[in-house]
Amino acid sequence: MGSLTGRRMIVVGGSTGIGRGIADAWAGAGAEVVVCSRRRPAVGPGLSWVRLDLSEPDHARERLVGLSTGRVDAACFSAVHYGDKRARFSEVSEVEWHTQLEVNVTGLWLTLRALLPALRRAQSGLFVGVSSEVAFNGGPGRSGYAASKAAAKSLLDSLTQEESHVRVVQVLPAGMVDSPGIRRRRPPDFDYSGYMAPSAFGRVAVELALSGGEGHHGDSLVVDGNGEWRSARGGLPVSQSRTLP
Ligand SMILES: NC(=O)c1ccc[n+]([C@@H]2O[C@H](COP(=O)([O-])OP(=O)(O)OC[C@H]3O[C@@H](n4cnc5c(N)ncnc54)[C@H](OP(=O)(O)O)[C@@H]3O)[C@@H](O)[C@H]2O)c1
Repeated sequence: MGSLTGRRMIVVGGSTGIGRGIADAWAGAGAEVVVCSRRRPAVGPGLSWVRLDLSEPDHARERLVGLSTGRVDAACFSAVHYGDKRARFSEVSEVEWHTQLEVNVTGLWLTLRALLPALRRAQSGLFVGVSSEVAFNGGPGRSGYAASKAAAKSLLDSLTQEESHVRVVQVLPAGMVDSPGIRRRRPPDFDYSGYMAPSAFGRVAVELALSGGEGHHGDSLVVDGNGEWRSARGGLPVSQSRTLP
């Protein structure tokens, strides 16, 4: 693969999971990558960390605007609030609903509002949104998560239609991904052998960064465990929901 040396990237929600897979791949290809999250992750060469809590909008806005004053060639939004566990609509608290909207939707909005001007200044600015099959399918026991991911998808789909300079691409996994956020919602003896690794997103992330997303503006790319991808326009992503007992 080519080199991203000299580029500066920002990954919101880049400390763990798919966001970390993307941040590691961009840094591995030579970019300077800033990952943002609430908790400090271990970082290696090419990576730095900025504390950001999207559930505190005033603080988040200030941090994101601060990050946008420098060069930004690509940005990725991968932060998520899943909620405690899959549960029926009537069993979910109003607080959880508000937090899902705050992190998954308003967090994305604040990120775009702060970083788009810097991405427009870049030669071929790229914005990568990490999406989910629930945005296409909905799902029992995941109504708040599904609604927030559908809202995030719609926000980016709409932006795509007005944005002519920055390329906006969404990526989503073909199956479940083994991440700390998912592990918090599973029993300790759960078998993750059928789950994808976050590093599966490395190849698509680097190729998108190298091409500036050319040919993929407005698309949602479904990535499989081998790092191969296809456009969601070719067929609905497979639901990962389970029927509730
Ligand atoms: N894992 C899957 O199977 C799967 C399937 C479909 C789609 N996705 C999508 O993939 C993306 C990443 O999910 P994941 O499971 O890979 O990751 P994850 O391990 O749950 O990581 C989520 C990231 O978001 C950050 N974050 C959470 N709350 C935050 C807040 N209030 N403010 C700032 N940062 C916050 C986390 O760091 P801190 O907790 O330290 O803040 C972490 O960096 C999400 O958009 C999700 O919808 C995942």
